[in-house]
Amino acid sequence: MKKIVHLSDLHFGRIDPALVGPLAEAVNEARPTLVVVSGDLTQRARSHQFEEAREFLDRLPRPQVVVPGNHDVPLYDVLSRFARPLDKYRRHISEDVEPVYEDEEMVVAGVNTARSLTRKYGRVNERQVASLRERLCKYPDEVLKVVVTHHPFDVPAGADEREIVGRAQMAMETLAACGADLLLAGHMHVSHAGRTAERYRIKGHSALFVQAGTATSTRGRGEANSFNVIRLKHPHIQVERRVWKPEAGVFARANAETFRHTSEEGWERLPEEVAAGITFDEGGTGLQPHVPD
Ligand SMILES: [Fe+2]
Ligand SMILES: [Fe+2]
Repeated sequence: MKKIVHLSDLHFGRIDPALVGPLAEAVNEARPTLVVVSGDLTQRARSHQFEEAREFLDRLPRPQVVVPGNHDVPLYDVLSRFARPLDKYRRHISEDVEPVYEDEEMVVAGVNTARSLTRKYGRVNERQVASLRERLCKYPDEVLKVVVTHHPFDVPAGADEREIVGRAQMAMETLAACGADLLLAGHMHVSHAGRTAERYRIKGHSALFVQAGTATSTRGRGEANSFNVIRLKHPHIQVERRVWKPEAGVFARANAETFRHTSEEGWERLPEEVAAGITFDEGGTGLQPHVPD
């Protein structure tokens, strides 16, 4: 079994400082295989904000797959914005804005969707999709293929569809051909999990898209601060939400959704009564049937 802790939209520069310690503790306690941070590490791409973000990342377990978000590109410093948009990100966070993690059960590829020309929207381009093809297509179906972007490939019903990453349809065709399983994103400050089949209608393919809410920002769009713990063991994925409880000063387990992969329909949500019968073995030997007392 593999476990990903998925954080997003940290927004150092506009955080609730009370959350930082408990968040680092909760992530360490989860003992993840991998920590993913899907962008917006800072509020205004200032050096001291990147320094704080760096300090926080250093408190979390490794390995990590971290990608930039639109807030990590300077907004007002026009020269930096266009000439060296991710200069400070590269200096403080990572030279590699599209990192990859690979092991025997999963491959996780980061894609930079932040752009200088648009203030908040993002996009993927053909070079990035070609690189995803190269990184993901070579693996067999049993290996879980995960893509990390800041801007999402889908949004919950009723949300502003302009927030969907630009050229998503072009990218999804390649992702479907390579059997992408899980698309992790942030940006909306809303946590959500769904199937891509409803929007993209690519025969025989349905990936899961999972958005993490904001882990530490004070701009929660009505939601409490949260992050996701994702357990992966082919053919199941479980997405568990941990939500900040200010009275207790902890990130507590809120709810979990379980999905199963089938060759005909791709990833499908399991009804609660079926999901309840599946437990993920933390010891790493995979799924164990749940035997009621
Ligand atoms: Fe954000
Ligand atoms: Fe964003």
